[in-house]
Amino acid sequence: MSGFEIRTVGAREILDCRLEPTLRVTVETDAGFRGRADVPAGRSTGSHEAVELRDGEDRFRGRGVRTAVGTVEETVAPALAGTDVRDQRAVDDALRDLDGTGRFAEIGGNTSTGTSLAALKAAADGLDVPLHERVADVAGREEVTLPVPFLDVIEGGELAATELGFQEHQLIPTNAESFAEAIRMGAEVYYELGDRLEAAYGDASRNVGVEGGYTPPGMTDPREAFDEMLAAVEECGYGDSFALGIDAAATHFHDPETGTYSLMGETHTPAEMIDVYDDLTSTYPLESIEDPLDEADFSTTAALTERLDCQVIGDDLFVTNPERVERGVEAGAANALLLKVNQVGTVTGAFDAAATASENGYAVQVSERSGQTPDPWLADVAVGLDAGQIKTGVTRGERTEQYNRLLGIEERLGGDGHYGGWPPAT
Ligand code: PGA
Ligand code: ZN
Repeated sequence: MSGFEIRTVGAREILDCRLEPTLRVTVETDAGFRGRADVPAGRSTGSHEAVELRDGEDRFRGRGVRTAVGTVEETVAPALAGTDVRDQRAVDDALRDLDGTGRFAEIGGNTSTGTSLAALKAAADGLDVPLHERVADVAGREEVTLPVPFLDVIEGGELAATELGFQEHQLIPTNAESFAEAIRMGAEVYYELGDRLEAAYGDASRNVGVEGGYTPPGMTDPREAFDEMLAAVEECGYGDSFALGIDAAATHFHDPETGTYSLMGETHTPAEMIDVYDDLTSTYPLESIEDPLDEADFSTTAALTERLDCQVIGDDLFVTNPERVERGVEAGAANALLLKVNQVGTVTGAFDAAATASENGYAVQVSERSGQTPDPWLADVAVGLDAGQIKTGVTRGERTEQYNRLLGIEERLGGDGHYGGWPPAT
């Protein structure tokens, strides 16, 4: 007995930033090492994600997770008892075997994600190392890197009540020397942007969406968003120190019946969508596009990746699934992976997706979900995975706690050389 063997796994129904229930899972080992992890949840989800277990009863409009709590305590706990938390793969394999469906349709992707992350944290506790070090160890990464923050300063799509078709309009700091400097510059531009939007689109612009970005009423065109963002950058004296990014989340304005996309009152074929993006990248310093096309469309995504000199990220396209990343690599679709642990349902599943991406020259961006809690494990995953990029919205406590954790890690690592910067080194 080493003391690292799992003794208990417990769970509780807590609330995420949207006041929706989610799971908080605690793993405790024989020697009393503990890990506790909160599970994030998406709204703008991909259809190939691990299946969330929700109660479907009246309470919380069906969103309760009491069944998942019961699954953790009655099914997962006895099955994992005795498993060494230092063997993350053994923990995750046991979860996968217990489920047996390949998509966590039986025990729930929320159940598996919470348990897997709590085991990771329990190992870090027992080994007495920071979580990012444990992440690097499990993922076999030599370097740890403070990521560039992608700040979703203007929201649209599914996550906000604006008329903008794209879900996120992001600021990417390009000339910062450290994470701390990047987030300070981003914050200053965010304040300036608030003033500008209030003047041009009214007070209600300052209402924020699910990820803490502004929601200017009456703004319909991503060009308006980009113009305001760049003007704010200019006003702050940051010239060309910022690039722009978007999460188009195009599945959500794609009509599967006709195969077309509805954007700004116009209908576009997939080929025309490439022209839309080409036009935007030619006019603006738009350097990163997430989910430009429907989640099933590997071939048009490949054609776009070939044509544009731009980071193309697969979120709903890849759902952090190593097999879908492989399919993307074969097709030449996208050149970056968005990594969300709960999309695949285990820590090693997500790290395998990251490894497949890196081995094939794809970048990795570690990402929040629209449903978050202030549990800052995401920051440690970004650092330990040497991902170089994080997106976690912009304001609201559950987002800023990730930044605060990154500030703390950067301070403790000390010196320079740990901040990756943008564009990423190739
Ligand atoms: P989600 O949205 O967390 O609701 O999936 C974020 C995204 O699409 O990147
Ligand atoms: Zn997305």
